[in-house]
Amino acid sequence: MSEDIKTMKLYHQVERVFNELQVLGISDDDLIPIETLCQFDQYHYFGTDAVDDAISKLGIHSQMSVLEIGSGIGGPSRYLSHATGCMMTALELQSDLDLIASTLTRRCGLEQSVHHVCGDILQGLRGTPKFDAIVSWLTFLHIADRQRLYNQCFELLKPGAGIYVEDYYERGSLNADERKLLRQDVYCDRVPTISEYQDELSKAGFVNIELSDLSDEWTGFVTGRLESFIMNKQRNIKLHGELTVSGLEHFYTTVVTLFQQANLGGIRVIAYKPE
Ligand SMILES: C[S@@+](CC[C@H](N)C(=O)[O-])C[C@H]1O[C@@H](n2cnc3c(N)ncnc32)[C@H](O)[C@@H]1O
Repeated sequence: MSEDIKTMKLYHQVERVFNELQVLGISDDDLIPIETLCQFDQYHYFGTDAVDDAISKLGIHSQMSVLEIGSGIGGPSRYLSHATGCMMTALELQSDLDLIASTLTRRCGLEQSVHHVCGDILQGLRGTPKFDAIVSWLTFLHIADRQRLYNQCFELLKPGAGIYVEDYYERGSLNADERKLLRQDVYCDRVPTISEYQDELSKAGFVNIELSDLSDEWTGFVTGRLESFIMNKQRNIKLHGELTVSGLEHFYTTVVTLFQQANLGGIRVIAYKPE
Protein backbone atom coordinates (compact mmCIF):
# COMPACT_ATOMS: atom_id res chain seq x y z
CA MET A 1 0.00 0.00 0.00
CA SER A 2 1.55 3.30 -1.00
CA GLU A 3 -0.27 5.76 1.30
CA ASP A 4 0.80 6.36 4.86
CA ILE A 5 -1.14 4.90 7.82
CA LYS A 6 -1.86 8.52 8.88
CA THR A 7 -4.46 8.68 6.09
CA MET A 8 -6.69 7.07 8.73
CA LYS A 9 -8.08 9.96 10.73
CA LEU A 10 -8.44 8.03 13.99
CA TYR A 11 -4.65 8.42 14.21
CA HIS A 12 -4.64 12.23 13.94
CA GLN A 13 -4.21 14.45 17.03
CA VAL A 14 -3.84 11.40 19.27
CA GLU A 15 -2.93 13.70 22.16
CA ARG A 16 -6.70 14.43 22.39
CA VAL A 17 -6.73 11.90 25.26
CA PHE A 18 -5.04 14.57 27.40
CA ASN A 19 -7.90 17.03 26.66
CA GLU A 20 -10.38 14.50 28.06
CA LEU A 21 -8.27 14.03 31.20
CA GLN A 22 -8.05 17.83 31.67
CA VAL A 23 -11.86 18.02 31.69
CA LEU A 24 -11.81 15.64 34.66
CA GLY A 25 -9.26 17.82 36.45
CA ILE A 26 -6.30 15.53 35.70
CA SER A 27 -3.42 17.76 34.58
CA ASP A 28 -0.04 16.98 33.01
CA ASP A 29 2.09 14.79 35.28
CA ASP A 30 -0.79 13.91 37.64
CA LEU A 31 -1.17 10.21 38.31
CA ILE A 32 -4.09 8.73 36.36
CA PRO A 33 -6.47 6.11 37.80
CA ILE A 34 -6.64 3.38 35.14
CA GLU A 35 -10.42 3.07 35.58
CA THR A 36 -10.70 6.71 34.44
CA LEU A 37 -8.26 6.37 31.55
CA CYS A 38 -9.99 3.24 30.18
CA GLN A 39 -12.87 5.40 28.88
CA PHE A 40 -10.49 7.16 26.46
CA ASP A 41 -7.61 4.85 25.52
CA GLN A 42 -9.27 1.87 23.78
CA TYR A 43 -9.22 2.18 19.97
CA HIS A 44 -11.35 -0.92 19.33
CA TYR A 45 -15.01 -1.89 19.83
CA PHE A 46 -16.60 -2.53 23.26
CA GLY A 47 -13.57 -1.21 25.19
CA THR A 48 -12.44 -3.24 28.19
CA ASP A 49 -15.29 -5.78 27.76
CA ALA A 50 -13.47 -7.04 24.67
CA VAL A 51 -10.24 -7.28 26.67
CA ASP A 52 -12.06 -9.21 29.43
CA ASP A 53 -13.20 -11.60 26.71
CA ALA A 54 -9.56 -12.23 25.69
CA ILE A 55 -8.57 -12.75 29.34
CA SER A 56 -11.28 -15.33 29.84
CA LYS A 57 -10.89 -17.12 26.48
CA LEU A 58 -7.09 -17.51 26.79
CA GLY A 59 -7.10 -17.90 30.59
CA ILE A 60 -4.58 -15.05 31.03
CA HIS A 61 -3.15 -14.85 34.58
CA SER A 62 -0.40 -13.21 36.60
CA GLN A 63 2.35 -15.68 35.63
CA MET A 64 1.97 -15.09 31.91
CA SER A 65 3.94 -12.94 29.50
CA VAL A 66 1.66 -11.54 26.78
CA LEU A 67 2.34 -9.66 23.52
CA GLU A 68 -0.17 -7.15 22.13
CA ILE A 69 0.34 -6.48 18.41
CA GLY A 70 -0.67 -2.93 17.44
CA SER A 71 -1.11 -1.50 20.91
CA GLY A 72 -2.15 2.04 19.92
CA ILE A 73 -1.89 4.41 22.90
CA GLY A 74 -1.62 1.37 25.17
CA GLY A 75 -5.18 0.94 26.47
CA PRO A 76 -5.68 -2.83 26.13
CA SER A 77 -2.15 -3.67 27.37
CA ARG A 78 -2.49 -1.50 30.48
CA TYR A 79 -5.93 -2.89 31.29
CA LEU A 80 -4.76 -6.50 30.72
CA SER A 81 -1.84 -6.11 33.08
CA HIS A 82 -3.91 -4.22 35.67
CA ALA A 83 -6.71 -6.82 35.58
CA THR A 84 -4.55 -9.97 35.69
CA GLY A 85 -1.06 -9.00 36.88
CA CYS A 86 0.49 -10.42 33.67
CA MET A 87 3.59 -8.94 32.03
CA MET A 88 2.77 -7.12 28.79
CA THR A 89 4.85 -6.27 25.75
CA ALA A 90 2.97 -3.60 23.79
CA LEU A 91 4.19 -3.39 20.18
CA GLU A 92 3.13 -0.28 18.21
CA LEU A 93 4.14 0.83 14.72
CA GLN A 94 3.56 4.60 15.02
CA SER A 95 6.12 6.44 17.14
CA ASP A 96 3.77 9.25 18.25
CA LEU A 97 1.23 6.74 19.58
CA ASP A 98 4.00 4.69 21.22
CA LEU A 99 5.33 7.80 22.99
CA ILE A 100 1.91 8.73 24.37
CA ALA A 101 1.39 5.09 25.38
CA SER A 102 4.63 5.08 27.43
CA THR A 103 3.71 8.38 29.11
CA LEU A 104 0.23 7.14 30.06
CA THR A 105 1.62 3.83 31.36
CA ARG A 106 4.08 5.69 33.60
CA ARG A 107 1.32 7.97 34.88
CA CYS A 108 -0.79 4.89 35.73
CA GLY A 109 2.17 3.43 37.66
CA LEU A 110 2.32 0.38 35.38
CA GLU A 111 5.80 0.84 33.90
CA GLN A 112 7.13 -2.29 35.69
CA SER A 113 4.60 -4.56 34.02
CA VAL A 114 3.89 -2.95 30.62
CA HIS A 115 6.89 -2.70 28.31
CA HIS A 116 6.35 -0.54 25.19
CA VAL A 117 8.18 -1.31 21.95
CA CYS A 118 7.93 0.77 18.78
CA GLY A 119 8.18 -1.40 15.68
CA ASP A 120 6.57 -3.39 12.89
CA ILE A 121 5.43 -6.93 13.68
CA LEU A 122 6.44 -7.99 10.17
CA GLN A 123 10.06 -7.31 11.18
CA GLY A 124 9.67 -9.59 14.24
CA LEU A 125 10.78 -8.85 17.79
CA ARG A 126 14.43 -9.50 18.34
CA GLY A 127 15.86 -10.76 21.63
CA THR A 128 12.56 -11.39 23.41
CA PRO A 129 11.68 -14.74 25.02
CA LYS A 130 8.64 -16.47 23.57
CA PHE A 131 5.18 -15.46 24.81
CA ASP A 132 2.40 -17.34 26.67
CA ALA A 133 -0.24 -15.50 24.60
CA ILE A 134 -0.65 -12.95 21.81
CA VAL A 135 -3.60 -10.54 21.62
CA SER A 136 -4.55 -8.00 18.97
CA TRP A 137 -7.49 -5.68 18.25
CA LEU A 138 -8.20 -4.10 14.85
CA THR A 139 -4.58 -4.21 13.74
CA PHE A 140 -4.33 -7.15 11.33
CA LEU A 141 -6.62 -5.21 8.95
CA HIS A 142 -3.66 -2.90 8.29
CA ILE A 143 -1.41 -5.82 7.28
CA ALA A 144 -2.06 -7.33 3.85
CA ASP A 145 0.65 -9.99 4.06
CA ARG A 146 -1.20 -12.26 6.47
CA GLN A 147 0.94 -15.32 5.83
CA ARG A 148 4.06 -13.49 6.95
CA LEU A 149 2.14 -12.03 9.92
CA TYR A 150 0.84 -15.45 11.05
CA ASN A 151 4.31 -16.96 10.65
CA GLN A 152 5.72 -14.23 12.92
CA CYS A 153 2.99 -14.84 15.51
CA PHE A 154 3.60 -18.59 15.43
CA GLU A 155 7.33 -18.05 15.86
CA LEU A 156 6.81 -15.73 18.88
CA LEU A 157 4.55 -18.15 20.84
CA LYS A 158 5.58 -20.91 23.24
CA PRO A 159 4.28 -24.40 22.35
CA GLY A 160 0.65 -24.75 23.48
CA ALA A 161 0.15 -20.95 23.68
CA GLY A 162 -2.80 -19.16 22.09
CA ILE A 163 -3.60 -16.10 20.04
CA TYR A 164 -6.74 -13.92 20.39
CA VAL A 165 -7.51 -11.48 17.55
CA GLU A 166 -10.47 -9.22 16.77
CA ASP A 167 -10.51 -7.91 13.22
CA TYR A 168 -12.36 -7.46 9.93
CA TYR A 169 -13.41 -10.17 7.50
CA GLU A 170 -15.11 -10.16 4.11
CA ARG A 171 -18.69 -11.07 5.01
CA GLY A 172 -20.40 -10.50 1.67
CA SER A 173 -18.61 -9.54 -1.50
CA LEU A 174 -16.91 -6.15 -1.09
CA ASN A 175 -17.54 -3.95 -4.13
CA ALA A 176 -15.11 -1.51 -5.73
CA ASP A 177 -16.46 1.51 -3.78
CA GLU A 178 -16.19 -0.34 -0.48
CA ARG A 179 -12.65 -1.47 -1.25
CA LYS A 180 -11.78 2.16 -2.09
CA LEU A 181 -13.22 3.38 1.23
CA LEU A 182 -11.26 0.71 3.09
CA ARG A 183 -8.05 1.65 1.30
CA GLN A 184 -8.46 5.43 1.58
CA ASP A 185 -10.02 5.87 5.02
CA VAL A 186 -9.07 2.74 6.96
CA TYR A 187 -5.60 1.98 5.54
CA CYS A 188 -6.84 -1.50 4.74
CA ASP A 189 -5.81 -3.17 1.53
CA ARG A 190 -7.01 -6.71 2.07
CA VAL A 191 -9.94 -8.22 3.99
CA PRO A 192 -9.82 -12.04 4.06
CA THR A 193 -12.91 -14.26 3.99
CA ILE A 194 -13.54 -16.68 6.86
CA SER A 195 -12.20 -19.58 4.81
CA GLU A 196 -9.04 -17.59 3.99
CA TYR A 197 -8.53 -16.98 7.73
CA GLN A 198 -8.90 -20.72 8.32
CA ASP A 199 -6.53 -21.73 5.49
CA GLU A 200 -3.83 -19.15 6.21
CA LEU A 201 -3.77 -19.83 9.97
CA SER A 202 -3.59 -23.59 9.33
CA LYS A 203 -0.80 -23.08 6.81
CA ALA A 204 1.20 -21.19 9.48
CA GLY A 205 0.82 -24.23 11.79
CA PHE A 206 -2.02 -23.08 14.10
CA VAL A 207 -4.51 -25.68 15.42
CA ASN A 208 -7.85 -25.60 17.29
CA ILE A 209 -8.83 -22.57 15.24
CA GLU A 210 -12.10 -20.97 16.38
CA LEU A 211 -13.58 -18.21 14.19
CA SER A 212 -16.63 -16.31 15.51
CA ASP A 213 -18.76 -13.75 13.69
CA LEU A 214 -19.10 -10.46 15.61
CA SER A 215 -20.66 -8.47 12.73
CA ASP A 216 -24.08 -7.72 14.24
CA GLU A 217 -22.68 -6.55 17.59
CA TRP A 218 -20.07 -4.41 15.83
CA THR A 219 -22.61 -2.82 13.49
CA GLY A 220 -24.60 -1.76 16.57
CA PHE A 221 -21.47 -0.49 18.31
CA VAL A 222 -20.13 1.65 15.45
CA THR A 223 -23.60 3.06 14.73
CA GLY A 224 -24.02 4.08 18.39
CA ARG A 225 -20.50 5.54 18.46
CA LEU A 226 -21.26 7.83 15.50
CA GLU A 227 -24.65 8.90 16.90
CA SER A 228 -23.17 9.80 20.27
CA PHE A 229 -20.23 11.62 18.61
CA ILE A 230 -22.64 13.74 16.56
CA MET A 231 -24.86 14.41 19.58
CA ASN A 232 -21.82 15.78 21.44
CA LYS A 233 -20.34 17.56 18.43
CA GLN A 234 -20.30 21.10 19.86
CA ARG A 235 -18.71 19.92 23.10
CA ASN A 236 -16.13 17.94 21.09
CA ILE A 237 -15.28 20.90 18.84
CA LYS A 238 -14.74 23.09 21.89
CA LEU A 239 -12.47 20.49 23.44
CA HIS A 240 -10.51 19.10 20.47
CA GLY A 241 -10.96 21.66 17.67
CA GLU A 242 -12.86 21.65 14.38
CA LEU A 243 -10.23 19.73 12.37
CA THR A 244 -9.98 16.79 14.78
CA VAL A 245 -13.75 16.50 15.06
CA SER A 246 -14.39 16.61 11.32
CA GLY A 247 -11.67 13.99 10.77
CA LEU A 248 -13.12 11.63 13.39
CA GLU A 249 -16.66 12.14 12.12
CA HIS A 250 -15.49 11.27 8.60
CA PHE A 251 -13.76 8.12 9.84
CA TYR A 252 -16.66 6.97 12.06
CA THR A 253 -19.11 7.57 9.17
CA THR A 254 -17.04 5.46 6.75
CA VAL A 255 -16.97 2.57 9.22
CA VAL A 256 -20.76 2.76 9.79
CA THR A 257 -21.36 2.74 6.01
CA LEU A 258 -19.16 -0.32 5.56
CA PHE A 259 -20.75 -2.33 8.40
CA GLN A 260 -24.32 -1.33 7.54
CA GLN A 261 -23.85 -2.43 3.92
CA ALA A 262 -22.95 -5.81 5.49
CA ASN A 263 -20.17 -6.84 3.13
CA LEU A 264 -17.66 -6.01 5.85
CA GLY A 265 -17.87 -8.13 8.99
CA GLY A 266 -16.19 -8.52 12.37
CA ILE A 267 -14.41 -11.66 13.46
CA ARG A 268 -12.87 -13.08 16.63
CA VAL A 269 -10.02 -15.51 16.04
CA ILE A 270 -8.68 -17.89 18.66
CA ALA A 271 -5.98 -20.37 17.65
CA TYR A 272 -3.13 -22.30 19.27
CA LYS A 273 0.41 -23.36 18.55
CA PRO A 274 0.59 -27.15 19.01
CA GLU A 275 2.30 -28.50 22.20
C1 LIG B 1 -7.13 0.44 15.56
S1 LIG B 1 -5.60 0.60 16.37
C2 LIG B 1 -5.90 -0.39 17.79
C3 LIG B 1 -4.98 -0.06 18.95
C4 LIG B 1 -5.20 -0.93 20.18
N1 LIG B 1 -5.13 -2.33 19.82
C5 LIG B 1 -6.53 -0.63 20.82
O1 LIG B 1 -7.46 -1.41 20.58
O2 LIG B 1 -6.64 0.37 21.51
C6 LIG B 1 -4.45 -0.42 15.42
C7 LIG B 1 -2.99 -0.14 15.75
O3 LIG B 1 -2.14 -1.09 15.08
C8 LIG B 1 -0.94 -0.43 14.72
N2 LIG B 1 -0.26 -1.20 13.66
C9 LIG B 1 -0.62 -1.28 12.35
N3 LIG B 1 0.24 -2.04 11.66
C10 LIG B 1 1.18 -2.47 12.55
C11 LIG B 1 2.34 -3.28 12.43
N4 LIG B 1 2.71 -3.78 11.24
N5 LIG B 1 3.09 -3.53 13.54
C12 LIG B 1 2.73 -2.99 14.74
N6 LIG B 1 1.62 -2.20 14.91
C13 LIG B 1 0.86 -1.94 13.84
C14 LIG B 1 -1.42 0.93 14.28
O4 LIG B 1 -0.37 1.87 14.24
C15 LIG B 1 -2.51 1.23 15.31
O5 LIG B 1 -2.04 1.94 16.40
